[in-house]
Amino acid sequence: MVDFDTAVKDSKERIEMAQLWGGRFTKQTDREVCEFNASILFDRRLYRQDIEGSMAHVRMLAKQEILTPEERDRILKGLEGILRDVGDGTLEITPEYEDIHSFVEANLIERIGDVGKKLHTGRSRNDQVALDMRMYVREKVRDTDRLLWELLEVLQRIMEENVDTFMPGFTHLQKAQPVTLAHHVGAYFEMFRRDRSRMRDICRRMNECPLGAGALAGTTYPLDREYTAQLLGFDGPTRNSMDSVSDRDYVIEYLAALSTIMMHLSRFSEEIIIWNSNEYGFVELDDAFSTGSSIMPQKKNPDIAELVRGKTGRVYGALMGMLTTMKGLPLAYNKDMQEDKEGVFDAIDTVLSCLHLFAGMLDTVKFNRAAMEASARNGFTNATDVADYLVNRGVPFRDAHGISGRLVLKCIAQSKALDDLTLEEFREESDRFDGDIYEAISMKACVGKRLTKGAPGQEAMRAVIGENRRYLEEDPAGQI
Ligand code: ARG
Repeated sequence: MVDFDTAVKDSKERIEMAQLWGGRFTKQTDREVCEFNASILFDRRLYRQDIEGSMAHVRMLAKQEILTPEERDRILKGLEGILRDVGDGTLEITPEYEDIHSFVEANLIERIGDVGKKLHTGRSRNDQVALDMRMYVREKVRDTDRLLWELLEVLQRIMEENVDTFMPGFTHLQKAQPVTLAHHVGAYFEMFRRDRSRMRDICRRMNECPLGAGALAGTTYPLDREYTAQLLGFDGPTRNSMDSVSDRDYVIEYLAALSTIMMHLSRFSEEIIIWNSNEYGFVELDDAFSTGSSIMPQKKNPDIAELVRGKTGRVYGALMGMLTTMKGLPLAYNKDMQEDKEGVFDAIDTVLSCLHLFAGMLDTVKFNRAAMEASARNGFTNATDVADYLVNRGVPFRDAHGISGRLVLKCIAQSKALDDLTLEEFREESDRFDGDIYEAISMKACVGKRLTKGAPGQEAMRAVIGENRRYLEEDPAGQI
């Protein structure tokens, strides 16, 4: 990347061309102002959307006989050349241009001469940047949906394989009742499934084309906005030109959805970190997805999960930043809106890489089934089932709760599980206990009897897994 000084020294002439608005000015812009004002260093990632938008605009201008077919073809050829050359690295996007729009236009004129100056007919950078951002965000919404789908596939596989893997379910991070790993992971399946549906919502709402809104008040040229909208894959053109150039709702909605994804990933990461601790030992991370310590040779750290948890903050920050940037803006376009880019780009890069890496980490993690089951057994997670057993024998639940609690106390004193009490010990608290208590409070029974829809019982779980499978097949990635 050429730095600003070299680029400017090299190209006194080009910098004049790079500025699209010199006519009304008699003095050179202050150097620091140029740098402060410029967005090229970050909006250059919009080059493809910018050029594709321009191509559609030019096709429409020719269709409306505002450009001749020859002019159209020359401009299209020039734009194709820029797209190709930037794509393969032969053309560098250098910082002497104010923004990506100026870069493309100046380059076009350099390539094809004066006819290139007709590109901007009936268009403003305001509707142009609104279009570029929309097209960019739309693509990223689709990428997000695809990565979510891939993560759901990993979760689904883990669920299918772990319908019988018992583990404690927690409330207050205290062992509560036994569940299965399939059930626990199934909770995340639901979260990421909702995240996908948010992607679809955003896409549906934002898929209207702002091109043709001009600076704020449309144009006097007979533009066919339906046509450009259709060429660019939008459902139709936007309905108010002032809103078109000043709407960044879709950016905010997307950031809110990305923040929610990060919240979900962060909660799951936290659990992976806990499960990976020496005390829990529920999981072993694959070597490829963990790191060591420079001093403590025994360490295998869950850095990926920690980083995902940590990066959640910057995505929330981008959302807050954008909401704050937009809150006091009068209609229509204000330069404040240029601030929509860096935070969003960073949030997008962050979430996409987190989704990808998290899925990879989860796909390779080994679950220590024995440790999970032992933990469920040692935590009195079947104490509710002891009470339920008594209720089935006519004891009121409140009394049954007390009896079960006293049995737990007895076990704590002897460092053993409820299953290890002798029948006599059970009967010291209630004569309703019989030999079938052991079967009734076995892990298998405790989980297996929970068969209401959404509960961890194997039959109920298999039904949900079947529904998930159908959902993944009927709603594959790439549909929005
Ligand atoms: N770089 C600008 C942005 O990102 C492009 C639009 C410029 N429009 C203007 N009226 N100065 O918002």
